[in-house]
Amino acid sequence: MIVSRIVIEGQRRLCGELELQGSKNGVLPILAACVINRGVSVIENCPELSDVENTLLILQSLGCTVSREGHRVTVDASTLNGSAVCGEMTGCMRSSIGFLGALLARTGSAEVGYPGGCALGARPIDIHIDLLRRLGARVECGGSVKAVCTDPKGSRIRLKGLSVGATENAMLFACGCRGITRIENAAAEPEIVELAEFLNAMGHRVKGAGGRCIEITPASTCRGTVVHRVHPDRIAAATYICAVMSAGGDVLLCGARGCSMANVVRTAANMGCEFRYDRRGLRVSANGRPTSPGRIITRPHPGFPTDAQPMFTAVCSVASGQTLIEDTVFSDRFRQCGELIKMGADITVESGRVRVKGVRELQGAEVKAYDLRGGAAMAVAAVGARGRTVISGTEYIDRGYQRIEQSLAALGADVERTDG
Ligand code: EPZ
Repeated sequence: MIVSRIVIEGQRRLCGELELQGSKNGVLPILAACVINRGVSVIENCPELSDVENTLLILQSLGCTVSREGHRVTVDASTLNGSAVCGEMTGCMRSSIGFLGALLARTGSAEVGYPGGCALGARPIDIHIDLLRRLGARVECGGSVKAVCTDPKGSRIRLKGLSVGATENAMLFACGCRGITRIENAAAEPEIVELAEFLNAMGHRVKGAGGRCIEITPASTCRGTVVHRVHPDRIAAATYICAVMSAGGDVLLCGARGCSMANVVRTAANMGCEFRYDRRGLRVSANGRPTSPGRIITRPHPGFPTDAQPMFTAVCSVASGQTLIEDTVFSDRFRQCGELIKMGADITVESGRVRVKGVRELQGAEVKAYDLRGGAAMAVAAVGARGRTVISGTEYIDRGYQRIEQSLAALGADVERTDG
């Protein structure tokens, strides 16, 4: 396998316009949901990410006919002929677990290898297993997860914990149940709302998405061809906001929707960023040294998103003042701090939180991405650092960012990807 690196010469201001990629965490459950549609699903603005490519391979392994033209993906699930997804295909990403609910809804059975995904601490699937059983499935957890439901009946269930993926799994399975399903203690992330939009386009009736209680009435007949345009990626937007704070500049994020990232915008504004919304998106500008926001505590939506925490930690490393950053969602999401310290950051890692004392500037160094957002955090640090930074582990970054080096270069950063 070619090992590529991203090389960045820092301290070039970022200016210009950037079309935000389609949302990774929005499109992945929607691609799994294509299995439920017995016709053709057309997914517009589908980002070019390795997690998307792997999901398309899973759909093909199930017998679906998949084609891609640029950012348009077409999935014909009328040819579906399987209900098992092997561990080799599921072990590289967390979102593959959504095929449990989707396949149960379509075929009444599912065998899915255990999901993988970024190492962010323990990532059990107990909430998923519990909800499938509450909805009437018989579930066995051996070398893979096997679920069967011969008579899927809609019912009222309460998720035993707040989980984005488990909420999505419950929504998908509910589309195959007889009668109405009511999901309580549901996650409220924007990606849940987007999945509901897609299921409604398919003919199901999903109400309450974005709140803690979602009600699903399955479609009596599916509508054949369903078209969905993937929403802009709010975490990619947060990433580029952090890059502007780190390097300085003025960037229009085309397609950015303030409603899905209010907490991120508020925190960045407190750090000295200026924002202006216009009809094309969100303009962000920053000049001079950022100011520490004091504290960042991640929480389930509408709280501060855990996925933006690593990139904000990178910016707080050069902010004036001290920042206490706690991640209440994942127990071990601070691996990027070791790499930031190599660049001169002053960070003390405690249990489940870090204390960051801002330094005037970071120095370029050889650093590594250990997970997706940690890798993005290194790019954010590098564009503001003095000198050259070489980032390895780019395969993690490519899981969630569409050619990040091209996006940064288009905004004026001195960045290139080297192979080998
Ligand atoms: C989704 O992961 C996202 N991934 C994550 O984004 C995101 O960080 C996370 O939601 C939280 O917003 C995708 O959408 C593909 P959870 P998910 O289930 O569904 C615990 C990124 O960088 N939990 O809401 O796996 C879990 O360990 C990725 O884009 C259980 O204990 O997250 C975690 O502590 C990273 N048992 C918390 O709940 C379960 O059965 C939240 O996890 C499930 C989850």
